[in-house]
Amino acid sequence: MKVVLTGAAGFIGRHIADAAEEAGHEVTGLDAMLPQAHGQGAGLPAKVVRADIRDGRALDRLLDGADVVCHQAATVGNGVDTQDLPGYANHNDLGTATLLAAMARAGIPHLVMASSMVVYGDGLYACARHGGLAPAPRVEADLEQGRFDPRCPRCGGAIEPRLIDEAAEFAPKTGYAASKVAQEHYARAWCTLQSGRAIALRYHNAYGPGMPADTPYSGVAAIFRSALERGESPQVFEDGAQIRDFVHVNDIARANVAAIESISAHRPGVTPYNICSGQTYTIGDMARRLSAVTGGPEPVVSGRFRAFDVRHIAASPQRAREGLGFEAAVAPDNGIAELATAPLRH
Ligand code: UD1
Repeated sequence: MKVVLTGAAGFIGRHIADAAEEAGHEVTGLDAMLPQAHGQGAGLPAKVVRADIRDGRALDRLLDGADVVCHQAATVGNGVDTQDLPGYANHNDLGTATLLAAMARAGIPHLVMASSMVVYGDGLYACARHGGLAPAPRVEADLEQGRFDPRCPRCGGAIEPRLIDEAAEFAPKTGYAASKVAQEHYARAWCTLQSGRAIALRYHNAYGPGMPADTPYSGVAAIFRSALERGESPQVFEDGAQIRDFVHVNDIARANVAAIESISAHRPGVTPYNICSGQTYTIGDMARRLSAVTGGPEPVVSGRFRAFDVRHIAASPQRAREGLGFEAAVAPDNGIAELATAPLRH
């Protein structure tokens, strides 16, 4: 198939380009090469065209004749503060809306897009008395006392994290999360207007070779890995028992190829899938594994916290297995060991 890939020079985009070409697809990669993602004056990778998805005229030239758009271009991270909101809206909301309008002009009926687990906010828990529910927001006084687990919003009792599936409601907490929800909503509108089909891949915590070294916008895997590279201890927040699902970038690339190849068999409209390893891992265990493999300093569990952080989030991989035939191949134990020495992008 002829695939236009946005964000082709990014961490995930590069892996998708390789996997899609290996699977026999013809890939046209686009990237705006934004300095905040790639550094000042970064060279254009081979086979990538410099183009900003907010430029509809450029898209009219580049989308012609494509069968499917695989949309990875986005400003990522949690954001540092409220001043980041316009940037997320500009690149992610406006960028996606401009891309969808251009796809309509070009008559391309299929979209595969990068979404994120951040659309679920604080995730899903179970209360012994009240069943499945979203947790009450954590309060600063509890966090300061080292009480990191959220409580039942109805009785205030203890609750246990559960695997979240795609039927869960949107509950974005950050500007980035709001923009990912918006992208799914724009895709829905485009599907309605164009009888289009879209697959939204909700990535859990992506990691692997070539991930960007730490910046104020990086995820925890890059931050820990970069600390060890400097000979410093990874700084683990809270008590280290926070649960995540770390999914290897090669698996994310395979999920995208599976989505590209199966999209015409999907129903019109947006179909979301969790893209995860299906195995939970704590932040403390991830830090300890990285330290052990590199022979670096032991992690420090600091008890510090960031009020906006999600405590636990883990996902059901079932729908992706059924709808995409996707199952992660890289076990987190192995992938994290590989990350310990894999090159990062500086
Ligand atoms: C991360 C990404 C988010 C992405 C999502 C799914 C960032 C900043 N966050 O969300 O954009 O959509 O994965 O792929 O890129 N922590 C430490 N020490 C640190 C930093 C973080 O212990 O130095 C802890 C945090 O307290 C948190 C956990 O690690 O409990 C994960 O943090 P982080 O990777 O920043 O954010 P996610 O919510 O997992």
